[in-house]
Amino acid sequence: MKIAIGNDHAAVELKREIMEYVTELGHEAENYGTDTKESCHYPKYGEHVARAVAEGRADCGILICGTGVGISIAANKVKGIRAAVCSDATTARLVKEHNNANILAFGARIVGSELAKDMVKAYLTADFLGGRHEERIAMISEIEEAEGLK
Ligand code: RB5
Repeated sequence: MKIAIGNDHAAVELKREIMEYVTELGHEAENYGTDTKESCHYPKYGEHVARAVAEGRADCGILICGTGVGISIAANKVKGIRAAVCSDATTARLVKEHNNANILAFGARIVGSELAKDMVKAYLTADFLGGRHEERIAMISEIEEAEGLK
């Protein structure tokens, strides 16, 4: 899979580790984040990754900031994006199985690199279960559509 990875200044080192790990797992990691620790604005990186995923230039995304929250909130403003902040591997699996999250987010100031890798693996190896979950995803899309009409 082609995976778009974005980060702000709080997550430069973890992003590098995660890019390596994703490559080891046999995926193609594309860097959409900053590579310097100079303070920057996370919404920009959330948007870049979200647009890459929404436009089909990447199969899914990984976003990392200090907490994973700001960057995922920004990504979720892009139509069709379901970015989920996680801090454990079970949730990382379930956000794919139940929510069909197309971006996994986490915080470099919240989780260590081993846990981050476990979450990435759990997310990337899980499959959306469909069925009753499909209807709920459709309901989320309807909310998005209604917002667009305002
Ligand atoms: C940057 O200091 C920090 O605010 C950012 O990385 C993130 O945690 C925001 O949600």
